[in-house]
Amino acid sequence: METFKGNLPTKLPGTGTSIFAIMSQMAIENHAVNLSQGFPDFPVSEELIERVHFYMKKGYNQYAPMAGVPALRQALSSMFYDNYGVRYHPDTEINIAAGATQALFTAISAFIREGDEAIVFEPAYDSYAPAVIVNGGLVKYARLQFPDFRINWESLPRMITHRTRLIIINTPQNPTGSVLRKEDMEHLQKLTSGTDIIVISDEVYEHLIFDGRKHYSACLFPELAQRTLIIGSFGKTFHATGWKTGFVLAPEKLMAEYRKVHQFVVFAGNTPIQHAIADFIGNKENYLHVGAFYQAKRDFFVERLKKSAFKVLPAHGTYFQLLDYSALSDLPEIQFAQWLVKEHKIAAIPVSAFYKNGDDHKILRFCFAKKESTLAQAAQILSEIK
Ligand SMILES: Cc1ncc(COP(=O)(O)O)c(C=O)c1O
Repeated sequence: METFKGNLPTKLPGTGTSIFAIMSQMAIENHAVNLSQGFPDFPVSEELIERVHFYMKKGYNQYAPMAGVPALRQALSSMFYDNYGVRYHPDTEINIAAGATQALFTAISAFIREGDEAIVFEPAYDSYAPAVIVNGGLVKYARLQFPDFRINWESLPRMITHRTRLIIINTPQNPTGSVLRKEDMEHLQKLTSGTDIIVISDEVYEHLIFDGRKHYSACLFPELAQRTLIIGSFGKTFHATGWKTGFVLAPEKLMAEYRKVHQFVVFAGNTPIQHAIADFIGNKENYLHVGAFYQAKRDFFVERLKKSAFKVLPAHGTYFQLLDYSALSDLPEIQFAQWLVKEHKIAAIPVSAFYKNGDDHKILRFCFAKKESTLAQAAQILSEIK
């Protein structure tokens, strides 16, 4: 194909191949154990797969309603009521999305106008900032405090201006595994009280929380909930990231704005999968043990790293474990990650990739959503590096 010869100003300068693609490619080329990208290497529940199959065979293969299959919205409404004691109306306050990434992009597009500001906490999941920028907004980065990755509530108020339109939070947090406490949510509620600021609360790892900690969903704080869109992902909860099915919960006025954009971005999500999940989440047993399941995986991995030179940072939620390699090397994170994959056949993600300016604390992110055999192999490799 001949190259395009016109002028091509990019909407996303500085965006190249992502570190996830680079590390995964290096993992393949080096036949490495791949703990870089965040996806499970074990199967999805047979029962859930059978439900999808059932609905496909039954002819549920055409467009779903724009807001999502009613049975799934109803099931989600009941699930949130059971888990948090809060009711979202299935008709006006719940929308199914083609994965949380789509929900996030759509929510950001619905509220960010030219010149608006969005506050993003970093290290941050990589889709927030580009969505703000593509919509003509400005990202204001608030650093989580190293090494426990807490929000600095003293400095945050100084970042708020008359242009602040959005604050995007994520709990449990990717990549750090930190979780927001009750007092964090109360701070946020107080800080935004009486303002026009909208909050996007990315809660895709809501069930992946450990050691008896509680997930403080934004829906639990009434004044905060009225300005918040909660984003969830069934891909995370049911080990089915490739199904790209997620959801948005928000009070009616915010949901109406979300839907104005959603209908032109994707219109509707996948029909048979929505029906299948509606049945599946009807049984609490199918999601209540997800936290314990991943906690056991974290413990299995970490236990085997006890004699290694890597320092284990606390992981309170998500399926990511941060490891500090400063006792082993002075190399910057990206170089150390590349050295690991080439020389030791194990792939991880440098946390510097989650910072705009590449802050480097000599830590890598390892995904432990893997079979025990994969985790044992990874831990053995890491333990032998001296
Ligand atoms: C914090 C966070 N938000 C959103 C997503 C996207 O979820 P989905 O796969 O449903 O688009 C991810 C996936 O890695 C994530 O880590």
